[in-house]
Amino acid sequence: MTEERRRAFSNARAVLKIVSSFGVVGALALVALGAVPSHASASRTAYYTATQASAGAKAYAADCASCHGVHLEGVSAPALVGGGGMAASESVADLYGFITEQMPAGNPGSLSSATYTSILAFLLEKNGHPAGAVPLTPARIKTISESL
Ligand code: HEC
Repeated sequence: MTEERRRAFSNARAVLKIVSSFGVVGALALVALGAVPSHASASRTAYYTATQASAGAKAYAADCASCHGVHLEGVSAPALVGGGGMAASESVADLYGFITEQMPAGNPGSLSSATYTSILAFLLEKNGHPAGAVPLTPARIKTISESL
């Protein structure tokens, strides 16, 4: 092997090494940066319809936003997006139980079950769950062990 060819050969090996380590590290970095969603919508269960979520948005604005914030960011009450708190640690089924029994604080249990259900659809939407064709119902909510 000539000196030149030997150098070219070792350069090629160095490039291969970089490519192969970036293959794994690069993919992980992309997931961490959110470029490749770790929960791609397609792989998540669709629990509610878009119509329910938009009805829920209106009900949320009227009955919940004063304490939890217009953008669910939390004002006098905890945030309902972005993880943390009960919303992230409890199952959706348990969270629904809590909401229907305790919320809106000051007037708990005052909404219809259709309204509570649509508000939950809105919370699912805002936490990145996809909409689908099958409506959310209280019976279906009881089967959801996933958290928001
Ligand atoms: C008058 C203020 C007020 C209103 C209105 C209100 N909440 Fe709350 N909410 C609170 C407070 C305060 C807490 C925290 C205390 C607690 O956990 O009991 C809370 C807690 C929660 C939690 C648990 C959050 C966590 O991560 O710990 C959820 C979910 C929730 N509320 C949903 C709702 C929904 C849905 C509505 C509308 C139907 C609503 N709230 C209306 C004051 C309010």
